[in-house]
Amino acid sequence: MQKLAVKGGEPVRRRPFPKWPFFDDEEVKEVLEALREGPWSAGSPKIKLFEEEFASYHHAKYGVACTSGSTALFVALKALGVGVGDEVIVPAYTFLATATAVIDTGAKPVIVDVEPSTLNISPAAAEAAITEKTKCIVPVHLAGCPADMDRVLELAEERGLRVLEDAAQAHGAEWRGRRVGSLGDLAAFSFYQSKNMTAGEGGIITSNDEELAYLARSLVNVGRDVRKGWYEHVRYGWNFRMTALQAAVLRAQLRRLSELNRRRMMSAAYLDRRLSEIDGVKPLERPEKATAHSYHLYIVRVDVGRFGFSSKEEFVKALNAEGIPCNAGYKPLQSYQFIAERSRLPASTHVAERASRDEAVWIPQYVLLAEKEDLEDVVKAFEKLRSNNSG
Ligand SMILES: Cc1ncc(COP(=O)(O)O)c(C=O)c1O
Repeated sequence: MQKLAVKGGEPVRRRPFPKWPFFDDEEVKEVLEALREGPWSAGSPKIKLFEEEFASYHHAKYGVACTSGSTALFVALKALGVGVGDEVIVPAYTFLATATAVIDTGAKPVIVDVEPSTLNISPAAAEAAITEKTKCIVPVHLAGCPADMDRVLELAEERGLRVLEDAAQAHGAEWRGRRVGSLGDLAAFSFYQSKNMTAGEGGIITSNDEELAYLARSLVNVGRDVRKGWYEHVRYGWNFRMTALQAAVLRAQLRRLSELNRRRMMSAAYLDRRLSEIDGVKPLERPEKATAHSYHLYIVRVDVGRFGFSSKEEFVKALNAEGIPCNAGYKPLQSYQFIAERSRLPASTHVAERASRDEAVWIPQYVLLAEKEDLEDVVKAFEKLRSNNSG
């Protein structure tokens, strides 16, 4: 039995995984062009091109670039008219901005449980949480795996609700051949530096609805109606505009997205096969209808007791020590007091709680961009931890 690195043994791996984010001459060329041609913000041709290219890649007619995924969510909710007195259904297992965006509109997040196989919103739990105050459902495409959009859209149709996709992690993901960002009324994407496409920061709202896109565009531009004039503020809004330099970087990143996502999917399929052979490890499932998964995260459920660890944190520490980047992921939304006191929790969210406390281990997307022999190190590290407690 090899001594674990966390106990002073030799780690499985000392070499780093691919650096993220990365860029090449494409970004340099785009940014120089943006600097030279100007303007650097409002009116920039780069921003307009990026909005059109990103939206069209996601099968959506309209794209409205903004400062972050968080502002994209907030603006989308405002465009949908969500506000004081409304309720918005969100999954318990997500980044806190999914809920704070709702709170910032004056509405109340209603936190529901997720599916054990994907950790995406449970349509049954969402249905059970609907009241006469419910205005909108926010399916989060966690890790880049589309939520069950057939059932979410059916439910929304039956109950007269709006759907905002939180696609912050899901650039290029597809549900039955249709890209996320075109499935709900509106969608929000993030370009934070960890994301599969990034400019350091940034976000975009996509939609197929002209009126909603017009409203979102006005809201991120201080409530202007630019067709009327620069100082024609026709509604309450904010300056959430993206810069031309961000758009330039993102145009180059978008051109690389398909190829990188294809590599992530291949690596994930390999890890799925190898890691499922290890007793006590279950990768999250990819539903058949999820025809493309962006694998922003590769998430496995680990029975850490089987590995001889008393907590998930200990397991994560030991895997890190073996040279494998990973972390323990989200806490459920309601574990943050400032969210809990502004939300409603109609039922138990034990699936999200168990995933968060005991099981879910996250491996970041750049690991999936490595070569096969590097992925083999990931498998070896899991096997080493497992053999440490094979009795
Ligand atoms: C699921 C989810 N929603 C929303 C966000 C917010 O995006 P940003 O960090 O760009 O504000 C993120 C990313 O951090 C996310 O992962």
